[in-house]
Amino acid sequence: MAKGSSVQALYELCKRTFLPSAASPPSSHAIQMLSSLMDTITPAEVGLEEETLEDERGHGFFGSNFSNYSSRTARWAQPITYLHIYECDSFTIGIFCLPTSSVIPLHDHPGMTVLSKILYGSLHVKSYDWVEPACLARTTEPFNSPVKLAKLHTDAVLVAPCQTKILYPETGGNLHCFTAVTPCAVLDVLAPPYDEAAGRSCTYYRDFPYSSFQGPANLEIEEKEEEYAWLEVNNQPVNLYMRSGIYAGPAIQETFCFPGTCNIV
Ligand SMILES: [Fe+2]
Repeated sequence: MAKGSSVQALYELCKRTFLPSAASPPSSHAIQMLSSLMDTITPAEVGLEEETLEDERGHGFFGSNFSNYSSRTARWAQPITYLHIYECDSFTIGIFCLPTSSVIPLHDHPGMTVLSKILYGSLHVKSYDWVEPACLARTTEPFNSPVKLAKLHTDAVLVAPCQTKILYPETGGNLHCFTAVTPCAVLDVLAPPYDEAAGRSCTYYRDFPYSSFQGPANLEIEEKEEEYAWLEVNNQPVNLYMRSGIYAGPAIQETFCFPGTCNIV
């Protein structure tokens, strides 16, 4: 049954696109083929029933402490659920299910290509790319690391059905923050996966308006200041409440490629 499913097709195309031994990144044509395939995948094809997920309730508080347990200001936090589908050294496939108002804080994807397909719902996406060459500014706190300048790439609400979004190691909005406007689900392909040992750990950030810090005197901002922000490493993002769920879609049957037979150019 799994053979022939759209998830199986996604796995097989990922396998041919992200080769472990590849000396260069996949071509834009190969990435576009993957993106086009993801465009066609429906929630039902990955085992999601929208109504069921919308009714799901969370299991904790955030934005408050337990002394405020009975306070009207305490907010009931519904967890973000991650459904793991597949992972190997070259890529990972999974689904994030976000309840309304949940947030995946601003974070990076070092050296990675990421394809994100909103399966259902509305999602606010804010994304940046680093300004190159790197531009740093000192904060007033002596022990804080400097803030780094980034340029806004996207600041928009995306509503399913919409095209798969692609971010690249240095372009396309490599740093992004997700906020669920309604219950929504995002099918994600990460290539290669996060791997601390390989220098690909996930770092969280908070963003500050450009006017918050003084950049180098010779810095030329070509466009409006509103299109730039200073990003500060945020080691302990608040309100991030994530748990694992069970993927209920078709299982993937692993296939094996032989040198020279599987790559797409
Ligand atoms: Fe991400």
